[in-house]
Amino acid sequence: MRPSVMRSAAQLLRRRNYSSASGQQARKVAILGAAGGIGQPLSLLMKLNPLVSSLSLYDIAATPGVAADVSHINSPALVKGFMADDQLAEALDGADLVIIPAGVPRKPGMTRDDLFNINAGIVKNLCTAIAKYCPNALVNMISNPVNSTVPIAAEVFKKAGTYDEKRLFGVTTLDVVRARTFYAGKANVDVNTVDVPVVGGHAGITILPLFSQATPSTNALSAEEIKALTKRTQEGGTEVVEAKAGKGSATLSMAYAGAVFGDACLKGLNGVPDIVECSYVQSTVTELPFFASKISLCK
Ligand code: NAD
Ligand code: LMR
Repeated sequence: MRPSVMRSAAQLLRRRNYSSASGQQARKVAILGAAGGIGQPLSLLMKLNPLVSSLSLYDIAATPGVAADVSHINSPALVKGFMADDQLAEALDGADLVIIPAGVPRKPGMTRDDLFNINAGIVKNLCTAIAKYCPNALVNMISNPVNSTVPIAAEVFKKAGTYDEKRLFGVTTLDVVRARTFYAGKANVDVNTVDVPVVGGHAGITILPLFSQATPSTNALSAEEIKALTKRTQEGGTEVVEAKAGKGSATLSMAYAGAVFGDACLKGLNGVPDIVECSYVQSTVTELPFFASKISLCK
């Protein structure tokens, strides 16, 4: 648990204005990579989130169409599309939460590390702009390899003098979503009641689902079955990459997971109590500088 995250939420609460119409706080969310496989359904889901008052959709291509499309949905968030470098500043200005699914996805036979060379550069440039235009925003990093893109973001923010470890999150929610689904199926329990913490990182064997702490607990699963569930969770991304056969990696389940984590961040900012999620963050839980564990996003 990282109760210190609560402090930054409280600081932001004092700094931000309330939306006069609803009495609820006005929250600007920016999605970088909004026209991609994850970005489009994630934009849709964040448009449906009642906590979002302004939704900024940025990509290097195709955002006018995505923004026009999403903007017709009759929910309160005002949607604007931004394209190319010269519109990045406006896209980010005043953002409370920035979600980053920008970058290339895997093809069959690749590991997430194979994405490093391209995605490291993309993340570095986007984080440099975040440091400049919305240095106090919470940042949700989806771009892979998360185990590396989060430390890269931290270094960019340190160099810019804006780093606050309580505001930088690697999104590992999809691992939790998968562990819940696979566990519920195997243990034959209602998936809506299931929780499974997933710690470590977001690649292969660094993904550690803690089925021993799963709720509701069950004696129905053998050691062999737990082992198989662990392996399936660790290889969930590869399962999708292979099924998509060269057409990318998980997008729809990731958009759902990103929307769940983004919503938790907004609730934390709004002072909603008891918001706990797993995320890959700067950590003292182990000797590793970054580690995914349960974190608290609320007072
Ligand atoms: P995609 O290729 O469909 O979309 C990526 C988008 O990023 C494209 O629209 C592209 O134009 C945009 N983009 C590229 N460079 C950009 C830049 N400099 N600024 C803004 N936008 C830029 O890929 P996808 O399937 O949406 O996956 C995106 C990333 O998310 C990949 O790295 C993938 O591995 C990762 N991912 C992470 C998780 C996770 O659990 N954290 C899950 C699934 C996918
Ligand atoms: C996932 O877990 O689905 C993502 O990290 C995408 C991938 O490359 O597996």
